[in-house]
Amino acid sequence: MAQTKFVLDEKDLPSRWYNIQADLPAPLPPVIHPGTLQPIGPQDLAPLFPMEIIKQEVSQERWIDIPEPVRDVYRLWRPTPLYRAHRLEQALGTPARIYYKWEGVSPAGSHKPNTAVAQAYYNHQEGVRRITTETGAGQWGSALSFACQLFGIECKVYMVRVSYDQKPYRRIMMEAWGGKVVASPSKETAAGRAILAKDPSSPGSLGIAISEAVEEAAQREDTKYSLGSVLNHVLTHQTVIGLEAQRQLEMAGDRPDILVGCIGGGSNFGGFTFPFLHDKLAGKRKDLRVIAVEPHAAPSLTKGEYVYDFGDTGQMTPLVKMYTLGHSFIPAPIHAGGLRYHGMAPLVCALYDHKVIEAVAVHQNPTFEAALTFARAEGFLPAPEAAHAIRVVIDEALRCKASGDRKGIAFNFCGHGHFDLSAYERYMTGKLEDFEYPAEKVKAALTGLPKVQV
Ligand SMILES: Cc1ncc(COP(=O)(O)O)c(C=O)c1O
Repeated sequence: MAQTKFVLDEKDLPSRWYNIQADLPAPLPPVIHPGTLQPIGPQDLAPLFPMEIIKQEVSQERWIDIPEPVRDVYRLWRPTPLYRAHRLEQALGTPARIYYKWEGVSPAGSHKPNTAVAQAYYNHQEGVRRITTETGAGQWGSALSFACQLFGIECKVYMVRVSYDQKPYRRIMMEAWGGKVVASPSKETAAGRAILAKDPSSPGSLGIAISEAVEEAAQREDTKYSLGSVLNHVLTHQTVIGLEAQRQLEMAGDRPDILVGCIGGGSNFGGFTFPFLHDKLAGKRKDLRVIAVEPHAAPSLTKGEYVYDFGDTGQMTPLVKMYTLGHSFIPAPIHAGGLRYHGMAPLVCALYDHKVIEAVAVHQNPTFEAALTFARAEGFLPAPEAAHAIRVVIDEALRCKASGDRKGIAFNFCGHGHFDLSAYERYMTGKLEDFEYPAEKVKAALTGLPKVQV
């Protein structure tokens, strides 16, 4: 059998991140201050982020050096392997060539530490001692707790209530790395108390947890805020994934026709695909299809509107232009907690708007079916988020089987599902629910958004 695993040396660890802002078909729409409705400046973001991160957020430089102390931490698990999924191909009987980049080997078990380590480092450099954040599935909270521990920073995590209840082991993992975890909505912030007053049994959402974390950081002199997805600098940090994958596919002597990534706020999708889109945007790979996969329960790209909206439910963040379901929309409690977000990264939205990328929505039962097909062939048990990508990879591979096409399909396998076993159990005992697209709720959430003229 041909080679299975394509492994880079530590010396091949990328030394720069790729910033796709330099190559977009048009500049990103400005970020807007919710009070003045004018574009914001760096000083508006200074209470929340260290200056180096604010600079990266607006940088138009194509390449950004990865600081040596960050590369040094990356070396604990990077470069990550790229696999050829021979066994999955055989199980499906497809002529397609399937590859996956395996990010589950990081300490936290997903791609999230790629930016957590960078963000903790820049905060540390600027003397920050305390960081707040939110987490959906618990993957991001674990990644930031781990990274903060390495740089001597205290980490406070607002964990979405439904995940807090579904995944107690993720909480314990965060605490093992010194993180302090509270279920969101909580009574600790005005934003949390307002939600609880309306709905004491609210399952929470990423939008609510962001409001709580931002509120605390904005009010405390000693505290900054960190976001695990959506923002430009986060997606840029994640490009270390795609940069490695490009070299590994060269080692394999292959060139993918289709790239796939699941999409919550856009960071694993962007991190994996942007380095490849560099060529597509330069007109060199016009035929490359790049597919983002989201849940039907939170279908921001496929069903949302491309308008200005808040990044959070409590209307505390600046306004960004994105595909959104409305900041007050609370997605159904699917097990892919990391995909339960009303909005989407502005960079991904701009690429979707320019038709550079495609998007597909899937339900959770077929997603878990795909996860089991994958686990039974390749061994690794996917996180429910990653399984969204696997569903579409399998669908594309089966299309190749029907047509006889020998396409190359590569996806980012962004995390393991070792803390998601109760979701697997629910699927295997037939108890998992598919949530239909809540058209009425989204319509209601989309009315009354601020009208921004730029
Ligand atoms: C394993 C995994 N994949 C994907 C996501 C979705 O986020 P993003 O779109 O930023 O990659 C998450 C978020 O928590 C996650 O934990």
